[in-house]
Amino acid sequence: MKKRVAIFISGGGSNMVRLVEDMQSGDHAGEPVLVLANGADAGGLKKAQEMGVATAVVDHRPFKGNRPAFEAALQAELDKVSPDILCLAGFMRVLTEGFVAPWDGKMLNIHPSLLPKYKGLHTHARALEAGDREHGCTVHLVTPALDDGPILGQANVPVLDGDTAETLATRVLAQEHRLYPAVLRRFAGGDTSLIRL
Ligand code: GAR
Repeated sequence: MKKRVAIFISGGGSNMVRLVEDMQSGDHAGEPVLVLANGADAGGLKKAQEMGVATAVVDHRPFKGNRPAFEAALQAELDKVSPDILCLAGFMRVLTEGFVAPWDGKMLNIHPSLLPKYKGLHTHARALEAGDREHGCTVHLVTPALDDGPILGQANVPVLDGDTAETLATRVLAQEHRLYPAVLRRFAGGDTSLIRL
């Protein structure tokens, strides 16, 4: 039996596309069962539909000030497809312990920094500001603390002279596209050993 994989996105969903493509390429222990966005304008929704994956939207805006209700709506969409694994892929809403706890050990996130460095936003600008010569991305298991939790994989990206946050982000994203599918492929097969690219 394949592991059923749901993916949460907020934007263009380029990481989601790479995960779905890898699962659909055969010889993978996971299958994509849902792509969910927190806004109907997320560009990744159309891409998921084109790849034949079911989509759902739970707009966070009507839930302003009531995060538990937003999270209950997210969980209700998940309950319809009974996923075994939940991948956050550029999902830009913070999830509270109430949502995260039942997914303990089953929810992955990709973050554009070498965690534990630069949790939160603006990771590329912060790496440049600090004068780092190495930057990168991390896939980790999600725990209630933001961008925390056991690390499953990391890919390094050298910082080059003249890099801007944008040029660095582009090169980090290219590594994200290699790292996340590699980690999910192993994770779905029951292997949680660390991957370094
Ligand atoms: C990626 O760089 C991802 O690491 C980042 O958003 C981008 C999403 O791109 N995630 C975060 O910053 C999470 N806090 P995508 O929609 O093209 O996959």
